[in-house]
Amino acid sequence: MSVRRERLVTSPGGQVAGDIRVPGDKSISHRAAILGAVAEGTTEIHGFLEGEDCLATLAALAALGAAIERPGPGRVRVHGAGLGGLRASPAALDLGNSGTSMRLLTGLLAGQGFDSILIGDASLMSRPMERVAAPLRRMGADVSTNEGRPPVAIRGGRMLHGAEHRLEVPSAQVKSALLLAGIQAQGRTIVREPGTSRDHTERMLGAFGVQVARGEGAVELEGRARLQATHVDVPGDFSSAAFFIVAALIAGREPLWIRDVGVNPTRTALIEILRMMGADIRTHVLTESAGEPRADIEVRPGTLRGIVVPEALVPVAMDELPVLFAAAAVAEGDTVVTGAGELRVKESDRLAAMVQGLTALGVWVEDRPDGLRVRGGAVSGGEVACRGDHRIAMSFAVLGARARAPVVIDDVQNVATSFPGFTALARSAGLRFKEEA
Ligand code: S3P
Repeated sequence: MSVRRERLVTSPGGQVAGDIRVPGDKSISHRAAILGAVAEGTTEIHGFLEGEDCLATLAALAALGAAIERPGPGRVRVHGAGLGGLRASPAALDLGNSGTSMRLLTGLLAGQGFDSILIGDASLMSRPMERVAAPLRRMGADVSTNEGRPPVAIRGGRMLHGAEHRLEVPSAQVKSALLLAGIQAQGRTIVREPGTSRDHTERMLGAFGVQVARGEGAVELEGRARLQATHVDVPGDFSSAAFFIVAALIAGREPLWIRDVGVNPTRTALIEILRMMGADIRTHVLTESAGEPRADIEVRPGTLRGIVVPEALVPVAMDELPVLFAAAAVAEGDTVVTGAGELRVKESDRLAAMVQGLTALGVWVEDRPDGLRVRGGAVSGGEVACRGDHRIAMSFAVLGARARAPVVIDDVQNVATSFPGFTALARSAGLRFKEEA
């Protein structure tokens, strides 16, 4: 099978302004579909992210017997099978590029009465899975990996029991997998984390009627839960908005408004970091829905200053660090990020990808085991390999507006995993690109 290799060529001098909306939140879309599939009743989802990752979750749930309809753009109707109503998939579940699908479904399927095998694309097949498999075994699950990586093989029919888990690194995917096993287990499941990770699963379980107790760094729930179907209105994805926040700051002509974005505080640390760098970003709060706060975000162009990013903000800005490094490349002085070792095990080694790409564009970067020091200055044109990683591709697409000559970004096809329509939206906001197949 031939792999599509698309490239993006930026033109310098784009000027960003206007009023835009970004597609629905990826994390919330995955969770709405998964919880809907095991709830009782019909869950209506609006604003569902129709990116490849969330479509992989839908396809997997359909293969497991959930009845799913897509009545219109951004709309998904899930007829819940209840926690005991799924059945074995006739084939291995292929989750493409999506780590969230694989890790969350591992937790869910560990408590089911049938066997499952989970696979993905080359990137996903090289990502660590023992971080979910090992704690699930402590609950009585039979989950095996291939020396720590997929395929993940789950033997069903195990009686899970609740357990108290202490995670070594904050991870919403691991926490969510354990909670999805926990709702099926006998007894109480407690997950303790050393720092903050996004809390969409906890909030959404609440919206589906499950009692979730939350304390400082800990979340707990009682097993044998029943989920009641609900309506989920998915806000715009803050992680997608992040590319436009940075674009407006570094290549803005006048303010950019990004409408109706999820501003759950476990997601928005990038705003805090950029404000420390001198950015003028205002959030205009709207209503909450399904337990998730949303806001219009207004960004005014300005000059950024390098900072040492406080480590406490790093885990909750992890997905936004690639675009923060792009912003740092045109800030005054040095920006230092530490405590970001998790970036090495994302869709690509994002620290290595940023070092290589920034260096190719003439930016001085110091590579550290768990972070980077980036020195702001002039950005030249050049060729950048984004290693098939959507967030690396979009970060360089934004930085291209401030480069002195075109930036050629190879291997950008996976932008569609999280942000279908990125190039069209970016053009409408003022960035300039050519797409080449
Ligand atoms: C996600 C959790 C984060 C994040 C990923 C989505 C989720 O990963 O990087 O893009 O939806 O739970 P970790 O759990 O590995 O921190």
